[in-house]
Amino acid sequence: MKIGIVGSRFQADCIAGAVKAMPEDGEVVAVASPTEGHAAGFAKRHGIPRAYTDYRELLRDPQVELISITAPNRLHAQITIDAAKAGKHVVCEKPLCLTLEEADAMIEACRKAGVLLLYAEELFFAPMDDCIEVFGDKGQTYADMLMGNALPTYSEVGLGYAVEKAATTRGWTYPVFEEHWNYGFPQEMRHFARCVRGTETPISDGDTGRVVQEVQYAAYASAGLGRTVLLPFRPTGVAKPIDLWKMPERARTTP
Ligand SMILES: NC(=O)c1ccc[n+]([C@@H]2O[C@H](COP(=O)([O-])OP(=O)(O)OC[C@H]3O[C@@H](n4cnc5c(N)ncnc54)[C@H](O)[C@@H]3O)[C@@H](O)[C@H]2O)c1
Repeated sequence: MKIGIVGSRFQADCIAGAVKAMPEDGEVVAVASPTEGHAAGFAKRHGIPRAYTDYRELLRDPQVELISITAPNRLHAQITIDAAKAGKHVVCEKPLCLTLEEADAMIEACRKAGVLLLYAEELFFAPMDDCIEVFGDKGQTYADMLMGNALPTYSEVGLGYAVEKAATTRGWTYPVFEEHWNYGFPQEMRHFARCVRGTETPISDGDTGRVVQEVQYAAYASAGLGRTVLLPFRPTGVAKPIDLWKMPERARTTP
């Protein structure tokens, strides 16, 4: 599978690293990022043959079969729709987009173009006994998703990098090992490449991302209203999910 990456920062590095770990199924052939020099630097760092400053140029690249969108959330819908029109399959980073209207438009554009819209929830692909915390009204249960794969470590001076979003490595930290593998990124990209080839059926697609979007709406609205919100939940006129927390009257107008 010939893959083009849109974006060149944190998540783009994860995807490039993930694809390198699955060379039998895919290869990154192009990257696009608007800041002068960033795409070229990323391409050099990862040995990618072509770099563009406009993602639309990447979409015109005839070698690219599948794109991975690692650009900011507000751009996911537009890039997906443009990619579908260009006949490229799409892997979209989470969250799928900002609104349910965008989710519907993305799903429809890909359906119409006959391309796959794959939703990059890498924890579906993370190994072993990784799990979640569940809180009920009469009890709770825990399972350790990532720390179960980490190394409990103490350092007085800090040790560089521990894991995504860990601001410090001084004192007790839980540095992850084999980070990409334990998050599931290579397994995810291998599965998506095989879906495009038709040998596997997507376990995470646009509809999956849309459900997550709806749950996000409901979670923010629940926080804003201070009460349980049941699904289905589809308020209109929402610009981004967090607005339902900050402006709970938006949720109250929902039929
Ligand atoms: N799956 C995960 O665990 C995970 C982890 C981190 C981030 N993400 C998601 O990945 C996406 C990117 O996150 P990040 O932390 O790398 O963000 P970032 O802000 O560090 O990087 C965004 C990249 O997109 C590029 N970009 C901006 N406008 C663009 C455009 N018009 N065309 C092409 N590229 C453009 C930027 O130049 C930058 O290279 C977000 O949607 C985020 O939610 C997912």
